[in-house]
Amino acid sequence: MCEDMKRSVIYPGSFDPLTNGHINIIKRASSTFDEVIVSVAINSNKSSLMTVDQRVKAIKKVFAKNKKVKVDKFEGLLVQYAKSKKVNTILRGMRTVQDFEYEMQMATSNNKLNSKIETVFMVADAKFSHISSSLIKDIIKLGGNAEEFVPEPIEKELKKILKKG
Ligand code: PNS
Repeated sequence: MCEDMKRSVIYPGSFDPLTNGHINIIKRASSTFDEVIVSVAINSNKSSLMTVDQRVKAIKKVFAKNKKVKVDKFEGLLVQYAKSKKVNTILRGMRTVQDFEYEMQMATSNNKLNSKIETVFMVADAKFSHISSSLIKDIIKLGGNAEEFVPEPIEKELKKILKKG
């Protein structure tokens, strides 16, 4: 590997919505890697609260001041997207042992699809290990307060969406 090559990592996910747990991982990754590409997966099979573009916009707002963080979206296979970005490293956060099986299957499958692809894991900070987007989605939909789980721009966006819906 060339000495001055930029070390980039793709952090893929649904981010519906981005949580404080995701933010913690992205911040830590941005001090380990030169570039963190947060990439929102376009998945029409999953019922979502925010549109992909709303998610991209809100994540961009959260990281507006962090030059190392880029926000993007992708459709189709993650390994193909990674190839198009010329990035071989995928980052995923791991909260609990329950995450492990799914993450192991994904990491192994991605590596089988393209042997250049390596997945690296960051263990979630214990403060955030109970947070999940689906839980937050439920709390928001049922009128609860998600303030302590999501950053302000996301909370604002969610409130707007719910008023419209
Ligand atoms: O936040 P999530 O929902 O756990 O993220 C899952 C995601 C988007 C990373 C995963 O579903 C994915 O990579 N989807 C893209 C399609 C793909 O490549 N599937 C095969 C992965 S083994």
